[in-house]
Amino acid sequence: MTSVRTTIHVCTTCRLGDEPLEPKEARSGARLYRELSQRRVHEGFEIIPVECLSVCKRPVTIGFSAPGKWSYIYGDFPPERSAETILAAAQLYADAPDGLIPWRERPDAIKRGVVARVPPALPYAREAAE
Ligand code: FES
Repeated sequence: MTSVRTTIHVCTTCRLGDEPLEPKEARSGARLYRELSQRRVHEGFEIIPVECLSVCKRPVTIGFSAPGKWSYIYGDFPPERSAETILAAAQLYADAPDGLIPWRERPDAIKRGVVARVPPALPYAREAAE
């Protein structure tokens, strides 16, 4: 069940290994963003490019967020073979009312790649605490 829109942020400026700074479109992050954007995705998903999520040492970095849910940041996604995993995990996130994907259901790359989770912002935080 998907009731609110899920945002998938993708850091387009992430670089793997010795990748050059230019051209920016060739960076691993930009390639992963293109890979995800070219896929037919659930209408409840928005794939949004962002320049740096401050996890630069674990490229490529992505994030999941939605109103009223915990937000997650994940790293370590190689651009050419991560789209399926990311979209499968995004579906699990979308299906979880609070955004907390049960551990045993998480794809391995999601288990290994988690960097941070952030509680819902106001006004949802107060509602969740009551
Ligand atoms: S460049 Fe991707 S997280 Fe900073």
